[in-house]
Amino acid sequence: MNESRFLHACRREPVDRTPVWFMRQAGRYMPEYRAVRAKHSLLEICFQPDLAAEVTLQPVRALGVDAAILFADILLPLIPMGIQLEFAAGEGPVIHTPIRTAADVAALRPVEPRESLAHVLQAIGLVRRDLGDHTPLIGFAGAPFTLASYLIEGGSSRNFVKTKQMMYGAPQTWHALMGKLARVVADYLVAQVEAGAQAVQLFDSWVGCLSPDDYCEYVLPHSQFVLRAVKATGVPAIHFGTDTAMLILWMKTAGGDVIGLDWRTPLDLAWKALGPETAVQGNLDPVALLVEAPYPELERRVQAVLEQAAGRPGHIFNLGHGILPETPVENVKAVVEMVHKFSMRRAA
Ligand code: CP3
Repeated sequence: MNESRFLHACRREPVDRTPVWFMRQAGRYMPEYRAVRAKHSLLEICFQPDLAAEVTLQPVRALGVDAAILFADILLPLIPMGIQLEFAAGEGPVIHTPIRTAADVAALRPVEPRESLAHVLQAIGLVRRDLGDHTPLIGFAGAPFTLASYLIEGGSSRNFVKTKQMMYGAPQTWHALMGKLARVVADYLVAQVEAGAQAVQLFDSWVGCLSPDDYCEYVLPHSQFVLRAVKATGVPAIHFGTDTAMLILWMKTAGGDVIGLDWRTPLDLAWKALGPETAVQGNLDPVALLVEAPYPELERRVQAVLEQAAGRPGHIFNLGHGILPETPVENVKAVVEMVHKFSMRRAA
């Protein structure tokens, strides 16, 4: 049953234990990752299929999680669109030529992911060959809004001032940009499914900075375009954002079989508001993992998440956002064991 626990939960079918995986489960907190990273840049790992596949498999081997997530980055599809990006040490991504005008948007190139992102798709094939049907593989992409925010700001942002200035002040340019991004992201996700991804997650990490009205007008139709394309493939989609609170109600309208929540949104209230036809993923605070054994407080927090889900079919355990680089690996492993132990269902 282990092989499909995650996929069953995406479809709200009963499972023997609550499935668990982690955003950023491959990354700097793992010594195996740091060893690869010492020899290769982030982009080298992403574009060399054997390295990307190896790093994808590291947490599956080390942690016993119920799903693998492809090792890549949400910003990769921007490169074939004509954007030069860099991952500067300690600063996060940097885009030296941000998109600010209608002419900038017009110059963005369309992308054929099967050509310009073929290496990423090859990594999916390699991972699937290794995992077989034992552990499902999640593909992913950034949602149009979150990608647009990086393109317009030129990197990470706090208040998304330039992004909102384009949205409010030049809505035609905004929609032209979002339309182009939605097309690229939709094609890329469909290509990932064709290559073997058994579920996908759409990361709209920063969409929580918007009001519901602005979300509906400037974002929802574009995310909906992406999620409709995924739905047509038949694989489940997880629609994730942080700091979303009530925005999840409109994110649900945009699409997704599973809504991803962070720790600021109570899982029980969110699920009640979303309704039983939606699955939910989340939502432990990643900072809760920064403790030393023994783990009474961590156990209490894992239990609290599971109690809010109350054993209803359709809960996938995860953090509310990615694992922090300073997290001890043994704590991540302990959380996997706790989730499986505390959620064990009696044989039907
Ligand atoms: O294990 C996994 O989750 C898969 C790998 C993955 C990466 N990025 C690799 C990566 C995934 C799913 C992402 C998604 C991603 N990338 C998001 C959405 C998820 C989220 O966190 O909200 C965003 C916003 C990005 C953009 C991005 N890439 C940032 C802001 C940074 C710098 C952050 C940091 O911690 O330094 C990156 C770099 C990056 N992407 C790293 C990893 C493992 C760390 C850099 C390194 O190894 O040098």
